[in-house]
Amino acid sequence: QLILDTLDAQLTLPDTRALKIPGQSSPASSHDAQITILGALNSLLSREMITYETHEVSSHVLTPEGVQIVREGSHEARVWAALPERGSAPLGVQDLKRAVGDEAAKVGQGRAFKSGWIAKEGNGFVKAVPNITDTTQIELREVESSGTLAAGEKALSELRKRKLIIQRKGQWFTVNKGSNFSTSIAKPETDLTVDMLTSGSWKKSTFKKYNFDADGIPTSGGALHPILKVRDEIRNIFLEMGFEEMPTGTFVESAFWCFDALFVPQLHPARELQDTFYLSDPSTSLCPPSGYYERVSRVHEHGGYGSIGYRTPWSHEESEKLLLRTHTTASSAAMLYKLAAKCRGQDIDGDISAKSRAADPSDDGFRPAKLFSIDRVFRNETMDATHLAEFHQVEGVVADRNLTLADLIGFMRTFFRKMGMKNLRFKPAYNPYTEPSLEIFAWHPLLEKWVEIGNSGMFRPEMLAPMGFPPDVRVHGWGIGLERPTMIRYGVNNIRTLVGHKTSIENVENSPAVMF
Ligand code: PHE
Repeated sequence: QLILDTLDAQLTLPDTRALKIPGQSSPASSHDAQITILGALNSLLSREMITYETHEVSSHVLTPEGVQIVREGSHEARVWAALPERGSAPLGVQDLKRAVGDEAAKVGQGRAFKSGWIAKEGNGFVKAVPNITDTTQIELREVESSGTLAAGEKALSELRKRKLIIQRKGQWFTVNKGSNFSTSIAKPETDLTVDMLTSGSWKKSTFKKYNFDADGIPTSGGALHPILKVRDEIRNIFLEMGFEEMPTGTFVESAFWCFDALFVPQLHPARELQDTFYLSDPSTSLCPPSGYYERVSRVHEHGGYGSIGYRTPWSHEESEKLLLRTHTTASSAAMLYKLAAKCRGQDIDGDISAKSRAADPSDDGFRPAKLFSIDRVFRNETMDATHLAEFHQVEGVVADRNLTLADLIGFMRTFFRKMGMKNLRFKPAYNPYTEPSLEIFAWHPLLEKWVEIGNSGMFRPEMLAPMGFPPDVRVHGWGIGLERPTMIRYGVNNIRTLVGHKTSIENVENSPAVMF
């Protein structure tokens, strides 16, 4: 009764009859009943009101056909009963069907023949024996009342095969009084409060037992955004490949570093208002190092280092405009300029005072470098499901003597393999600052197509020579977006659910760590 009360009180059991022997209810409700009973038992157990043991049982229940046989006899017995004694006029098939039904006539006839109960006479049948024992009916009665057969498993399996009974696994429980046994359920205290301590009521209270296995309540601490997690993974790949991170804090750059230093023509469409955000206050930058500025403007206007240049008038106003950088290659340019300064042996800020060269005259001061950056860039884009006006670029730059395009391709294969992209393709492309240039495509196994992931190339002499690199130094570089791999990684197909005011904080908190 206590268990029933518990069930009613806690679970508002719709039908307490479910507690009856499982075999007698329908399969679904008996399973539900098992769970409900177990829930109640465990609830009482946790209060130490009871202890219990579980016993597994297997029992059998009758199918509707089995129930019918218990009531009316087996098909073969009914066929036998319907037939006249030997010597009387035999009963025809149609009459037999009329007497016991089509199904019983068909099945029962065969079985009655096999048992030698009936015989054929002329066009009909008669009884072959004066009396019979309907074993099927007797066995089914036994199963109905006891759930099993004393005769054993062989007889049971025969009835199962005939689809007259089905097996049902069940549980039953022996329940004993526990140390806190009571016939009513007091709601135990879950917290020890100041009031209880001061009034002393804690002495008479019952406390809920501490459950050390329960899951804790998730804490709402800070969480890294998925983009930052992917950034960390990519950063690790660079670091394990021996790269050094470039400083990229300069979101605001001058057109000189973002475009001119990269030999992007001053009339290039990427510089236009509809593509680039310009600053209005302040609108102009300080002057870049003067010697370098001279060499850059000269190579644009007149050429040099084997180039004929763009042969268009140089505009200082264009060069000094302040803007939100459109690519992190602006930072790469500044870093390469600093790297080249070691070769020039000159003060990078003025290009004036020649510093003393290294002791070895054959040492031109150049040191190879592997640099990377992962940071934010800004473009005046029409925003849609895959484009935002600000996003992140991942960029890698390698400077060494006599690098070739094969070095660039080989490096990218290694790098992207570490990111899980084994299948790459490269397509010739155009960049004002690289020649040759390659677009990078990776095979996307889920989308089953090649997706463009980035852009790369060998930096042009028109960019490197004015910086002061020796002629045999080559620099290659490449850039990819950070948002796309993040979206693929986390199965996000709209960038606005990842970045911006529609981002779900819960998703951010629950997003797993990334391992490529
Ligand atoms: N700056 C290029 C971009 O924005 C990427 C790139 C970097 C290409 C370095 C070549 C070399 O797509």
